[in-house]
Formats: sequence, structure tokens, C-alpha cells
Amino acid sequence: MFRLLASFAVVAIPYAIERFGLRVRFGLFALLFWLFVCQFVLILAVDTLLQDFAASLPEWLEQAITTVGSYVIITFGITPLITLVLAAAYLIFALGQWAFGRDEKDRPTPQTHFTIAIDGPAASGKGTLARRIAEAYGFHHLDTGLTYRAVAKALMDQNMPLDDEFLAEKAARTIDLTKLDRSVLSAHDVGEAASKVAVMPAVRRALVAMQHSFAERPPGAVLDGRDIGTVVCPDAPVKLYITASPEARAQRRYAEIKSGGGSAKYDEILEDLTRRDARDMGRTDSPLKPAADAHLLDTTEMDIETAFLSAKTLIDQALAKNKH
Ligand code: C5P
Repeated sequence: MFRLLASFAVVAIPYAIERFGLRVRFGLFALLFWLFVCQFVLILAVDTLLQDFAASLPEWLEQAITTVGSYVIITFGITPLITLVLAAAYLIFALGQWAFGRDEKDRPTPQTHFTIAIDGPAASGKGTLARRIAEAYGFHHLDTGLTYRAVAKALMDQNMPLDDEFLAEKAARTIDLTKLDRSVLSAHDVGEAASKVAVMPAVRRALVAMQHSFAERPPGAVLDGRDIGTVVCPDAPVKLYITASPEARAQRRYAEIKSGGGSAKYDEILEDLTRRDARDMGRTDSPLKPAADAHLLDTTEMDIETAFLSAKTLIDQALAKNKH
């Protein structure tokens, strides 16, 4: 009885570990081996009992029982052997899986993606924040403003009007997301022209489709713009709306141009920004506004690192939720 219990403890524990905890691969082997031990002990016990019983009988009966008993023992004795063979076969199989790693849990999991939508007015700091987040999490980044700028630039280069929806849509369909050159597209007049082409629904439809498929790139993507949380990625698990006072934004733009060696007038920049805000917020198709479930971040008095840390808390929470 003690041996039976001990064999149960030694062999059944790995099985329990596999079923309920550490998922080692040898649980079925342990179970089969335990069955083998049980059967073996049982047959030995029956054999001993039979011998004891037969010893107390007359000789002729003892012989008869011993002969019949040995046939029975031999016949049943085969069952622990079968179990042992099965246990050995499974052990070889489990060792093979362990060595070559072709286990269920080693299979690559389907690619998933995680989208972070960042919206806000010009010079609110959303672009810098988006780049910082993408870098920290190893996600792809798309500044969607560049796509509208690229359409405007294509029209400008060919001296085409900025309000011809047919031509603008055609230009939008030729945009290549891998060839958006920030150094060319960041010019002030291109930004102004972009906000004019951005009011046309056909242009938006073409660009939104591209942006939407960009957002699905695994392992994740950060998109910044004006309508990411509301139109492009309404299901994004993290939506941020970055804002700052017009004066702070104009001051940033002014410092940026000056540090690049350009000439600028603060008042003119403030006027341009205010005009651009009014156009972006007032258009009928996809106006700039925070999504209902967006987290607002006012960067007027905030540096990029502080903004990043606030965003990081929200992103980490959403990522943890996504895993469950
Ligand atoms: O962000 P950026 O200044 O580069 O954007 C240029 C213009 O493109 C914006 O003023 C806006 O009119 C338009 N835009 C948009 N929707 C986006 C991104 C930019 O309408 N998602």
C-alpha cells in the first residue's frame, strides 16, 4: 500500500503540474507510467495472495490452482507491459516535441496590431509626441499631415488649382507613403495649401483609405493628424487629443523657423495658425475635434517628456488590457 501511494506521489505530481501549472510536456508519460506501476503492484499482490491461499489447501488442489493461477498471471501480466510500451512511445514523442519545439505554444501567434491615434491643431506638439511614442514602443509612425501636404505639393508643382476636386483626388491616389519627404513638405506655403485641399471629401476618402491600412501594420502604429481618432481609426485603443494655446503654438513655430536659419514674424505666424485652425475645425468633412473617448493633453506649459510620460501611462494600461 505504501509503495502504491509513493509511486502515485512520484509519478502523478508531474502530471498535475502539466495540467494545472507549469505545462511540462511529460504529463501523459507520467500518467501511463503510474498506471504501469499500479498494474504491476496489483498483479504481484494477487500472485502473493494466491500462493498464500493455495499453500493452505490440499496438495492436488494447490497444484491445480498454481497452474491455473500462473496462466491467469501471465495473461494479465501482459497489460502492464502494454502500458509500459505506450508510456515509452509517448516519452519518445514528447522528447521529440521538446527537442524540435513543434508544440502548440511554440507556434507563432497571429500578428496583431495596436493603434495609437493622436489629433490636435498645428504646432500643438502632436508630431513630436507621436514620434517619441513610436520610437519607445517600436511602432510605425505616420504623420498624416504629410499626406495632405504631398497632394498640395503635387498640385503646386504642376501649377494646378488647389480647389479642383477631380485633379486633387487624382493626385491623392498617386501618393506613396514611403516617399513622403518632410524636408520638402514642411514648407509653410505647402501647409497652407494642404489645409485647402484637405476640405475636399474625395481627397480625404483616398488618403483615409491609405492611412487606415497603415494603421493595421503589426505590431502597432502611431498616426497623428486631425481626424485619426474620429474617422481614420475610430476603434483605436488609445486616442490622444493634444492642444496648446495659439500663442504657445505660434511661439514654437517661430522658434523652429528661427533655429533653422529662416526668417519669420511671430504675429504673422499666429495669424496663420488661427486661420488654419478655423479652416480645420470649421470644414464639414472630418473637422478637427477630439473624439468622445480621447484623452486631452494640454501642452501649453508642458515639455515633450512630461507629455510622453502621461501618454505612456495610458498606453501601458491599454496594452495590458489588450493582452487579457
Ligand atoms: O499637420 P500638418 O500641419 O502637417 O497638416 C497640414 C494640413 O493637412 C492641416 O492643416 C489639415 O488641414 C490637413 N490635415 C487633415 N487631416 C489630417 C492631417 C492633416 O485635414 N489627418
